[in-house]
Amino acid sequence: MVVADTGDIDAIARWKPQDATTNPSLLLAAAQDPRYRHLVDGASQRAAGDAEALMEELFVAFGCEILKHIAGRVSTEVDARLSFDREGTLRKARRLVRRYETAGVGRDRVLIKVASTWEGIRAAEQLEREGIHCNLTLLFSFAQAVACADAGVTLISPFVGRIYDWHRAARKVEDIPLAEDPGVASVTRIYRYYKKFGYATQVMGASFRKTGQIVELAGCDLLTIAPDLLEQLARAAGEVPRRLSVADAQAQPLERVPLDEAAYRWLHNDDAMAVEKLSDGIRRFHADAQKLAQFVGSLAPAGRRVA
Ligand code: E4P
Repeated sequence: MVVADTGDIDAIARWKPQDATTNPSLLLAAAQDPRYRHLVDGASQRAAGDAEALMEELFVAFGCEILKHIAGRVSTEVDARLSFDREGTLRKARRLVRRYETAGVGRDRVLIKVASTWEGIRAAEQLEREGIHCNLTLLFSFAQAVACADAGVTLISPFVGRIYDWHRAARKVEDIPLAEDPGVASVTRIYRYYKKFGYATQVMGASFRKTGQIVELAGCDLLTIAPDLLEQLARAAGEVPRRLSVADAQAQPLERVPLDEAAYRWLHNDDAMAVEKLSDGIRRFHADAQKLAQFVGSLAPAGRRVA
């Protein structure tokens, strides 16, 4: 199933995907686009000078607008500063869901995106009990994937492209062939593990750098794809054969990986790429969220400037 990975609402209207995903970097780009200035202005008015409310209203405004064009769910990310703060994540997720509900959108149409840290996974476990569905993002290691499934989260977003970026830089090569692509291999491994052991958590491959990575993962529960790659896929001729299937996964000789907190931390820490990319991803989303706050703050009417 195809998901649009963008804050560009016109692109979503054009592609009509099932679901859509946003993140602070995508919303920074969208909020600066004059086509969506009315959403920024509306959020500013509703926030009435409250800096925290302004960011929430903005994220929810884009989410609600996106939902007008899709039948499924939109993903809205919590503040990256809360990545190691279980209680803070719970509070923020509940606030976002309340704002969606005030706007007439039920929690069944929203996925709250939380970084796949130990604390984020524990927060998501609690949110799922409250009927708040979560998309665990910035997922790079097998340990993160196992912990998310054990926590019963609705969906995970294992990143393909950023894994590929890391290995390309480490190996100092221009490209890594698809057959050896470590991002593709990561999602394949997670998908097989989930299906083999009957986990309900959905696997949504994310962060693609080239269409071949998407094609290699055909059959995955969901794939979230940026509009430029959707265009390239649409232009390409031919059928895309299924690569991942439940039957194939169930035939794999896999062992269960039991993970308590110590084992999770050990296994995750053992994967240098995942440790670096998770930290880097949190820093980048935080930096873009700050830029976004500054941008919308600079537009707020005088006397209502936000920090
Ligand atoms: C989607 O959920 C992710 O935030 C997105 O795919 C990340 O993509 P990037 O690695 O291109 O930023």
